[in-house]
Amino acid sequence: NPLFLLRLLLSVLPWRFSLRGYGFCMSALFLFCFGSLFYQLNGGPPKILLDIRQYLGSSTYLNDHGSIPPRELPFPSQVVYNRVGKCGSRTVVILLRLLAEKHQFNLFSSDIHNKTRLTKHEQVDLMTNISKIPPPFLYTRHVHFLNFSRFRIEQPVYINIIRDPINRFLSNYFFRRFGDWRGEQNHLIRTPGMKDDERYLDINVCILENYPECSNPRVFYIIPYFCGQHPQCREPGVWALERAKQNVLENYLIVGILEELEEVLLMLERLLPHYFAGVLNIYKSPEYKKMGNMTGTVRKQTPSLEALKVLYHRMRYEYDFYNFVRDQFHLMKKKIGLKSVVKAPAYTPTFLRELALRTPQPLDEDEELDSDLEDANSWLVHP
Ligand SMILES: *[C@@H]1O[C@H](CO)[C@@H](O)[C@H](O)[C@H]1NC(C)=O
Ligand SMILES: *[C@@H]1O[C@H](CO)[C@@H](O)[C@H](O)[C@H]1NC(C)=O
Ligand SMILES: *[C@@H]1O[C@H](CO)[C@@H](O)[C@H](O)[C@H]1NC(C)=O
Ligand SMILES: *[C@@H]1O[C@H](CO)[C@@H](O)[C@H](O)[C@H]1NC(C)=O
Repeated sequence: NPLFLLRLLLSVLPWRFSLRGYGFCMSALFLFCFGSLFYQLNGGPPKILLDIRQYLGSSTYLNDHGSIPPRELPFPSQVVYNRVGKCGSRTVVILLRLLAEKHQFNLFSSDIHNKTRLTKHEQVDLMTNISKIPPPFLYTRHVHFLNFSRFRIEQPVYINIIRDPINRFLSNYFFRRFGDWRGEQNHLIRTPGMKDDERYLDINVCILENYPECSNPRVFYIIPYFCGQHPQCREPGVWALERAKQNVLENYLIVGILEELEEVLLMLERLLPHYFAGVLNIYKSPEYKKMGNMTGTVRKQTPSLEALKVLYHRMRYEYDFYNFVRDQFHLMKKKIGLKSVVKAPAYTPTFLRELALRTPQPLDEDEELDSDLEDANSWLVHP
């Protein structure tokens, strides 16, 4: 009986070997402290994030040990927004341009839109470049998560925004074919390489007949942005999903959801005031509305219920991730003291039918106007 043995040991050990036991205890304690220091220095969450979490008095976060929170919220000065395609990032980048001028931080928005994964050498090159921007800075690019600490470069704080996966997919599908408010004619000129049978491909056919554009791994799109540059991050599955979730907890200050953009902006304003103070006023101003008014993908067709069901199943990891992020977002909203607007969370067929109505279209835009989108999405091979 192991329990009995343990009791026996406990009753005997402290008396006979107390000195040795004491030494053992102290060295264990020392090892523990040293180990935790080592963890912090080697790829543990950035100190600034831990401070912020402590300030928020979180219980879901990793290092919550109930000590007294610092009186002032610590402000990061190195921020990376590795923006996900077709999740409203154009809106945010326009806002950032105005904010950078107002608050005097260095905004660097990369104009590479079609290269999200990098070789090891390219990663180091890019991270070195980013780390050389004078702080406070905000760097943004369509790129999968870069692990700075892996290469002993100080890890910046990450932010991002995602949206309902099927809505994102549809937005991308029609944007590639028909562009935005500038109209179809304009887009025909912009993407002359696209053949008509691809441009006018029925989305139900694409989904139900398993065209690559509408199948895995291509519809496994959002998770790799949060998982990282490891090749397995692009394989649809639990490994990438779990790593992406862990990364959200460890390295992201906030991941907002586009469906609640105003609240995302409000939270950015609270968490990163020297970047985002006043953003909501700008966003709601008539001048900005005029600009925001010009974007929006033309939605040509809503897929059939059958096709949506198939797609939903195909994107189940993406939905798992999306739901996780949304729950985290609502939790944080509560902590900061914003009321949560309860939206129907149940993904029933009824919900799927209403998909087209869920995201306000004017936000539905990205920057990749002339270049191809994701390399993974830039062409279509028939099965
Ligand atoms: C890094 O900066 C150098 C010099 O400005 C530039 O030539 C290079 O292309 C940059 N690399 C990346 C990955 O941005
Ligand atoms: C980043 O690199 C560190 C150090 O190699 C590692 O411990 C950590 O798991 C990595 N994180 C991600 C998300 O790749
Ligand atoms: C876009 O702006 C124009 C005026 O600039 C206005 O007439 C129109 O109603 C706006 N459209 C939307 C969808 O807000
Ligand atoms: C990305 O776009 C640029 C210019 O639009 C093009 O020259 C380049 O070949 C593209 N790269 C990939 C990997 O598609």
